[in-house]
Amino acid sequence: MIKDYPKKIVTKDATQVSLRPVVPGDEEALVSFFSQIPSDEQWFLRERLHEPLFLKKWMSKLDYDHMLSIIAVKDDDNTIIANLTLYRSASPSMRHVVHLRTTVHPRFRGMRLGSWMILDSVKLSMDLGIHKVIAEFVSEVEEAAIAAAQKLDFHKEAALKNYVRARDGSYRDLIIMVKDIHQEWSDF
Ligand SMILES: CC(C)(COP(=O)(O)OP(=O)(O)OC[C@H]1O[C@@H](n2cnc3c(N)ncnc32)[C@H](O)[C@@H]1OP(=O)(O)O)[C@@H](O)C(=O)NCCC(=O)NCCS
Repeated sequence: MIKDYPKKIVTKDATQVSLRPVVPGDEEALVSFFSQIPSDEQWFLRERLHEPLFLKKWMSKLDYDHMLSIIAVKDDDNTIIANLTLYRSASPSMRHVVHLRTTVHPRFRGMRLGSWMILDSVKLSMDLGIHKVIAEFVSEVEEAAIAAAQKLDFHKEAALKNYVRARDGSYRDLIIMVKDIHQEWSDF
């Protein structure tokens, strides 16, 4: 639950990091974080997260029930180095599902930060009574993420052929992966 944050973790290279939900006042640090994500990756983000105006609007209507964003903040200088967002619909027919999106700063990839955050979001989803976590990946572009998700027991459920348009005008498949949440700790 939200009250369980901040949570302290240590990455593979011994960087001390705190996980916590975003709060008003994080806008500048978020703009800085998302603007350091390579532009080829920004292209595939669902929102214009590197744009100050988008972040201002988001923060002014912060609604954890609809969009719960957890950030990883470096303890020594408060820099944001990763973000994971859970999107949840208000419809009673979809309340048992969340969509997950993770981005780790390129300099901090491969240090298990993404895995930590995804595992943490599974625990959070369990606490929120969620039954399914869905993650969508762009084929050929987000293969590292697909590998990471597979390691954490997400399974490939579907592929929408030629669904996503890349910057060069070509099309990529959208890979939909699912993790079923059982309401027990043994799920881990
Ligand atoms: C996907 C992403 C979140 C992973 O975060 P990360 O902190 O680098 O991942 P981890 O260090 O926890 O790695 C977990 C596993 O993923 C796999 N993996 C990570 N990077 C990989 C790469 N470049 N190539 C292949 N597999 C990779 C490995 O299996 C790894 O397990 P291992 O360390 O036991 O070998 C990060 O690479 C990222 O932000 N990518 C760009 C955005 C994106 O694609 N988001 C996905 C949409 S949800």
